Amino acid sequence: MVKARKYVVKKIFEGLPKLEDFEIVEYELPVLKNGEILVKVEWVSVDPYMRAYNIRYPVPYDQFGYQVGVVEESKDPRYPVGTRVVSHKGWCDYVIIDTSDPDPVAGELYKLPDLKGYSDSFGIGAVGMPGATAYFGFLELCQPKAGETVVVTGAAGAVGSLVGQIAKIKGCKVIGFAGSDDKVKWLEEIGFDKAINYKNADAAAALKEAAPNGIDCFFDNVGGELSSDIMYQMNEFGRVAICGCISAYNIDRSKLPKATIVQLAILGKQLKVEGFHLWRWKSKIPEAYEQMIKWIKSGELKPLEQISKGFENVFDAFVGMLNGENFGKAVVKL
Ligand SMILES: NC(=O)c1ccc[n+]([C@@H]2O[C@H](COP(=O)([O-])OP(=O)(O)OC[C@H]3O[C@@H](n4cnc5c(N)ncnc54)[C@H](OP(=O)(O)O)[C@@H]3O)[C@@H](O)[C@H]2O)c1
Repeated sequence: MVKARKYVVKKIFEGLPKLEDFEIVEYELPVLKNGEILVKVEWVSVDPYMRAYNIRYPVPYDQFGYQVGVVEESKDPRYPVGTRVVSHKGWCDYVIIDTSDPDPVAGELYKLPDLKGYSDSFGIGAVGMPGATAYFGFLELCQPKAGETVVVTGAAGAVGSLVGQIAKIKGCKVIGFAGSDDKVKWLEEIGFDKAINYKNADAAAALKEAAPNGIDCFFDNVGGELSSDIMYQMNEFGRVAICGCISAYNIDRSKLPKATIVQLAILGKQLKVEGFHLWRWKSKIPEAYEQMIKWIKSGELKPLEQISKGFENVFDAFVGMLNGENFGKAVVKL
């Protein structure tokens, strides 16, 4: 019998999630049935949507999320022992997966792509959901052209840091907003033309100085007044991709903060503003993974990870990410 541990969410979060909102449950896994695999989890992801989606599910529920693991026992010949798989089974150390039962959010489990020797954790980062989000969300919605000016918010995070680097690969000028001076320094080191600390700068004035000719593409992870400031500096026919709105995730939805209306900017400059979910491009996701690996191998793209260690530290890594402690993708090595 294999003993497993998992994080169960037992309370709806109020504001920032608290450790008491979770319970670590230890239990014995049953014997494998045909079509099932036993996976030893090696890497677990912590992501903002785990906070945002918390109101969607009745408690208690098992904390979902991407993970990479290795098959330790198999009753599905497609996944022999030793195969590495990516699933959405969340924060647990061992799990039994029914290979024919797709996850309601993430779809079917799949084999970890060939990462050409890079860390398996890239499978939940640059060559996983965040990487595909950056790739399709930015390229399909922003349609960047060489020489254009791109602004990214949440620029030092998993998705934002990849969007900025893809924009550089496409020959754009890139400006990023992030929440600390150290992040600003790091972004400029990895090739952003300019980075701005939105916590201590006059964002509108700093942006005007950094982009005197205006902005053509805006990839927004954050929302709120910062986004409104940016929208008012867009050029005619600019494109805005709404990827996330993390400034509102920890706030009571009935008391959302007000931000300057953006309709004048959208109308005046004939902007195209579009929200998206990655799943729109579900059937094309392998294309993104292939390209991300090529860029990583060529050195054009440098994924950074914030690695925490140990099953007991998954919660801290999650809240740390929500608080902005992560540079690049926040992951936990079990
Ligand atoms: N549409 C989709 O399909 C899709 C898919 C994946 C992710 N997303 C969204 O993309 C965004 C980024 O996700 P990620 O996984 O890359 O996370 P991340 O950026 O790695 O981590 C979250 C970051 O958000 C920033 N943040 C936290 N509170 C903030 C606030 N009040 N105002 C501004 N920034 C704040 C923090 O950085 P600072 O230190 O800079 O504040 C923190 O590091 C999220 O909004 C997420 O929901 C959307």
